[in-house]
Amino acid sequence: MTAAAEPIRDIAHLGHVELFTPKPDESLWYFRDLLGMEAVHREGQSVYLRGYGDYATTTLKLTEAAQPGVGCIGWRAVSPQALERRIAAIEATGFGEGWTNGDFGRGASYRFRDPDGHTMEVYWEEERYRAPDGLKSTLKNLPMRYPKDGIGVRKTDHLAVCCKDVATNRKFAADTLGLRLRETVLFDEGKTEIGSWMSSCAVHHELAYVTDVKGLHGRLHHFSLWVDDKSEVLRAADIFMENGIFIEAGPSKHNNSQAFYIYSYEPGGNRVEIYTSGFFVLAPDFEPVVWNEEERGTGVYWGAALPESFLNYATPDTPGAPAEPGLPVIDPR
Ligand SMILES: [Fe+2]
Repeated sequence: MTAAAEPIRDIAHLGHVELFTPKPDESLWYFRDLLGMEAVHREGQSVYLRGYGDYATTTLKLTEAAQPGVGCIGWRAVSPQALERRIAAIEATGFGEGWTNGDFGRGASYRFRDPDGHTMEVYWEEERYRAPDGLKSTLKNLPMRYPKDGIGVRKTDHLAVCCKDVATNRKFAADTLGLRLRETVLFDEGKTEIGSWMSSCAVHHELAYVTDVKGLHGRLHHFSLWVDDKSEVLRAADIFMENGIFIEAGPSKHNNSQAFYIYSYEPGGNRVEIYTSGFFVLAPDFEPVVWNEEERGTGVYWGAALPESFLNYATPDTPGAPAEPGLPVIDPR
């Protein structure tokens, strides 16, 4: 028996995600008023938000842009030394872009792109949230009071991005960030990697790479936020329906991750998942779960099958797509 490679444990967790929106006011309404996130800062064309349980000052940045999609995906290192090690690994790939001066709530960060072109950064310095009077929780270990309005998402959880070549990007994330593979879908007798779910910590997955069926680069499949239990996902469905938000799929249960979910489109067009109850991975020798076509099925454990739009719609959408979210493109393939 050969010894397993020493795992890279330099990344603490997915730290923050930037979403682009062509409808900044409506998107802010969705995340703040419907999801119950707190808007903590405005700067330029961006608004910075947080879930009530996030320890960091901000975990979601909404930035006005011509088209929806994902901006920067941030990973927090476990220490300054770990950050230096990850930067060295990234620079060795040739995908490094260099240091930035940081952003609201964070110190300097190092930017890079994955092979598919998604912008990412690694950083250490993070400002811990200090709730102002009026937002302090009566619970000492809660960073901010539980929101009285909206769905009440606790935290930014994960995202799935589309890419042309899942295997290449999955390997890049493993080699540079140390993300560990949790589950993967292999078609064609194992020859074609359709999707891979990865994490730096015990969270089931923080980043998923899925095949972009349009063959494009740098697109977002969905962004996901955590709620504490299934009843809150069901409540989200009612809140979405009362406010004219398109529900694409769910509430249902995934087979992969075992999580309970609902997918909606925020007004800017990005697909957003409200998510709970997936399993955690504690085993250091966890063996990634491999699904083939037959085992994967529709990707749903129970509940309605995911619609065609779930395969075909990503942001930014392709030319010829409907201008308004809620009318997803059905690829005739
Ligand atoms: Fe998800």
